[in-house]
Formats: sequence, C-alpha cells, structure tokens
Amino acid sequence: MGKTVAAALHYNSSTMDFIDLKTQYRRIKPSVDARIARVLEHGQYVMGPEVTELESVLAGYCGTKHCVAVSSGTDALLIALMALDIKPGDEVITAPFTFFATAEMIALIGARPVFVDVDPRTYNLDPAKLEAAITPRTRAIMPVSLYGQCADFDAINAIACRNELPVIEDAAQSFGATYQGRRSNSLSLIGATSFFPSKPLGCYGDGGALFTNDDRLATLMREIRVHGQDRRYHHPRLGLTGRLDSIQAAVLLAKMEIFEDEVAARARVADVYARLIEQAFGASGAVRAPYVAPGNTCVFAQYTVEVEHRDVVETRMKALGVPTAVHYPMSLHQQPVFEHLGQPEGSFPVSEAAARRVISLPMHPYLTEEQQGEVVAALKQAVTG
Ligand SMILES: Cc1ncc(COP(=O)(O)O)c(C=O)c1O
Repeated sequence: MGKTVAAALHYNSSTMDFIDLKTQYRRIKPSVDARIARVLEHGQYVMGPEVTELESVLAGYCGTKHCVAVSSGTDALLIALMALDIKPGDEVITAPFTFFATAEMIALIGARPVFVDVDPRTYNLDPAKLEAAITPRTRAIMPVSLYGQCADFDAINAIACRNELPVIEDAAQSFGATYQGRRSNSLSLIGATSFFPSKPLGCYGDGGALFTNDDRLATLMREIRVHGQDRRYHHPRLGLTGRLDSIQAAVLLAKMEIFEDEVAARARVADVYARLIEQAFGASGAVRAPYVAPGNTCVFAQYTVEVEHRDVVETRMKALGVPTAVHYPMSLHQQPVFEHLGQPEGSFPVSEAAARRVISLPMHPYLTEEQQGEVVAALKQAVTG
C-alpha cells in the first residue's frame, strides 16, 4: 500500500476503540458510583447483598430457576464440570473453535476434550457431526455459543437426551442472545457465562455466572463456589474460591439497567456493518459478514468477518489506525498443550480454515455510523491493497 494512501486514511485510534467502555461508564456513572459507594459503606465485600440481588435479576432475565454468581467464566465452566462429577479419564465433547478456557477446564479436571468440528456459517458445534464423537466414556457435551450467537441447542439436546448426557452451554460470549425465543444460559442443563469487562455484559474485573433449573445442581454449584462447604467449616466435597465480589455485582446491577438498550444498539451496529460491507464488497466474496441463523438473535460479543490473507489484512488495518483482533488464530486441537491428543492438521478442517480467515472489527453499542464507515473504508483498503 502506498504511503500517502495509508497516511490519508489513517484514523486516530484514540477515537476508535475496539470496545468503548468509557462512554458506557459516562452513561451509567451515577448508578455505578452510588451502588459501589453503598458496598463500601456496608462493608460486605464478598458475597454481599448485591450478589443475591444480582442472582435474582439475572435468573429472571435468563428465565431460569437458579443463578449462581461466580468469580469468572472460566471458574463457571470448572464448577459446572465439578458439579456433574466429571472425573479423570472421562470424555467431554466440545468445539475446537473457541477461547482456550473451554477445553482448558475439561483438561484441568483430568478429562479428555473431544472436539467436534464447527458449522462453517455460525462457527458453533455442528450437530450433524456430534453423534459420531460419542463413546462409552463420554460424560458431557459442552457446546459454545460463539461470538454471541447460540449453538443449535434443539439438535444438540435431542442427541444428548438420546444418549443420556448432560449439556453445559459455554455462554461466555452470548449472555443476552436468544434461540427460538429462549435466552442463552437457559437452553440446557447448565449455562455458564462470563462478565469479563469486554463481554456484552461485563463488570470491572473478573466475574461469571451459572444458570440451571435443577435444584440439586444449583446447591452443589453454590457449595463448590465456597470450597465445597455445605455449612461453615464443613466440607463434604472439594471446591474452590469461586465467589463474586459485591463491587462487581454492584457494577453488573447498574449495567443491567441499560442492557436491553445496549443489546438493541449492538444489533443496529451489526446491521450497519452488514450494509456497508455489502456496499463495499458486494458479491465479490472478498469479505464475508457474520451469519445469524434463523431463530437466533446475536449479541455480537465480536463482529467477526472472514477474509483471504487475514494476516496481511490485520497488519494493514493496524497501519491504518483501525483496531482489530483475531478470535481465534488457532484451532484448539493444534495448541501445543493438546498435541498429545494426536489430532494432526486436517482433523477439523472447518475450524482450521476459520482460524486462518477470521478477523474481528471494532464492536460496541456506542460505535457511530461514521466510525463504522471509516472501519469499512479501511477494510476495503486493506483487502484490495
Ligand atoms: C468462549 C469462552 N469461554 C470461556 C471464557 C472464560 O471466561 P473468563 O475470561 O471470564 O474466565 C471466555 C472468555 O473470554 C470465552 O470467550
């Protein structure tokens, strides 16, 4: 790319955030500040009244009987696996195209992550390939609702039901999304989400939550969250320090006041991107915009497109001052730590191709149409060279 063109198109990255949390804070500042001040005054910093209030708000929002607020999305997955008594030697089926934590928690507990390739349009676990991966050692299925769009739970649950297997939704990216009119986190036996700051619903540190309609599992997950204790200093099982801080719960309660409005704004931003990409690239196929399956609404935790020569496009976008990210550059079966699973290149071709082609554009509810125009102009420049 010629230097002058790059200079002419250079956008000021200080005005173009990949995710803009400062604008959101300015909007909710009175509520956040007042709620945090209340925590500082009552002094119950861990598992205070805000946590109980948050659990009730979130369970009501997702339409589940129980919500168990925890310390992170990763801990949510671990606690779910522990509550289902997944043990070393067991197999848990998941998708290879996801954030590392999904398979990491399966392996951390000593079980074997068994990967099933993803659908090329939604990047979610392909139900058509699921049944073939089930063995006598399979103990659970953990589909991921990637980029903010739910996996095909009717198909997955039907197969799980036939094989008497529990299903955990890794809903770290999909809080607020719907599938056939039902909310993410309520679509299977357990839903596990993340409140990492960059998530559609994020706190100001680490946080997460578990959702279920099952009373016994809810009790187990609450116990595992606090060192496996069923009453003070009495431990029938092992657990961890998996609690949510009251200050994080206070932040999340403030953010829930505007969450639906932000979900709608995300959908509007995604529609504008789709239109601009169509105008810029038409039927050339040079850039593939995200696909949302019928019956799904997406919260666009990421706005991820596919391009040829992704690494070149990424470098050029950086030179043009437009922040991008790659979610994710490697299919998990190719991570060094999973080499022992013995799955060479070509084992999961859809996931491998996606890892070579995907690039995420700036996405948040406060992105203006003008900024989006700049992003797509830069993308056009980066793609066509
Ligand atoms: C799909 C997926 N699973 C699990 C996690 C882990 O969540 P946390 O970062 O809150 O531990 C993430 C977070 O990025 C994620 O995207």
